[in-house]
Amino acid sequence: MSTSRRSSLNLRRLRQDEHVRALTREVHVRLEQLIQPLFVAEGAASPVPVPGLTGVHQDTSDSLARQVESDLQAGVRKFILFGVPAARRERQIDWSFTAGQLQALKRRFGRDVWLAADVCLCSSTPHGHCGVLNAEGDHVDNDASLEELSQAAVAYAQAGADCVAPSDMMDGRIGAIRAALDTAGLARVVLMSYAAKFHSTLYGPFRVAADSTPRAGALRDRATYQLDPARPSDAWLCAERDAAEGADILMVKPGLPYLDLLRELSRSIRKPWAVYHVSGEFAALEALAAQGLAPRAALHREILTAFRRAGANMIITYGARFAGEWLAA
Ligand code: PBG
Ligand code: ZN
Repeated sequence: MSTSRRSSLNLRRLRQDEHVRALTREVHVRLEQLIQPLFVAEGAASPVPVPGLTGVHQDTSDSLARQVESDLQAGVRKFILFGVPAARRERQIDWSFTAGQLQALKRRFGRDVWLAADVCLCSSTPHGHCGVLNAEGDHVDNDASLEELSQAAVAYAQAGADCVAPSDMMDGRIGAIRAALDTAGLARVVLMSYAAKFHSTLYGPFRVAADSTPRAGALRDRATYQLDPARPSDAWLCAERDAAEGADILMVKPGLPYLDLLRELSRSIRKPWAVYHVSGEFAALEALAAQGLAPRAALHREILTAFRRAGANMIITYGARFAGEWLAA
């Protein structure tokens, strides 16, 4: 064997063992970058498992606190709460159920947790749309919706939410909510915009958990307010507008199908970027792993890595509470 012979082994040299692979890694996923969604339903007698989402429940007020306790044990400290009130109405919605849950969590866990509150109307309206409908029931009234959304944001912020995150997709909601928060003396509350939220088929398990499926009527789906998957320019317009209106954090949602946009937007708009690995995406991975067709921990690690590689600072994922194991495995 000649020592002087030049080997064609070059790029593989840095893949040859786990040590050199670790030393040369460019992208890291850390537990502290993950946000765990929580669901709490008013009047529920016991926690109900959410179909497709391993380890995720629609909690009762009592089980919610226990869930957060166990998540803290697992190293998860950031949450986004979705409240499902018992009563539903079109206008002058009563936000006190979800506000009360936020307040109880903050009283109990204080600064040990960072608590975001999803702000939307779809779990509170009789028809399940994310805004207020006009009299004919065939159109979401943008400005009437802004009033309700602003009131929700202020109620949640007053209850102690560290962050409010409007997911409704009305025009002008970021400016309206920021102004309402500032007027109420809540300038410190972080505003995270679901800026590039697409009209996706991947929200199924979530809508069961949040009881937010649009009811049959003149307006069947959310296509008139969520972004069209075939119009990426809209994501740019929304992100630029929301940044200008005062959003602190911008989001792309869903995750994997919109990774192209996450990459480009996060490089161009110098704001912190979140990605929402949505319920249908998560359920698809779990189904694959459950059939023994992919190794569960490595599968989730690969997808989380893709989000970080594409430029996400933070990831909202149903798997946050398992990620300690997955990332260590
Ligand atoms: C509703 C809302 C949705 C999600 C978060 N807030 C779904 C929808 O628009 O119907 C999706 C989350 C998920 O699927 O995990 N405003
Ligand atoms: Zn909604």
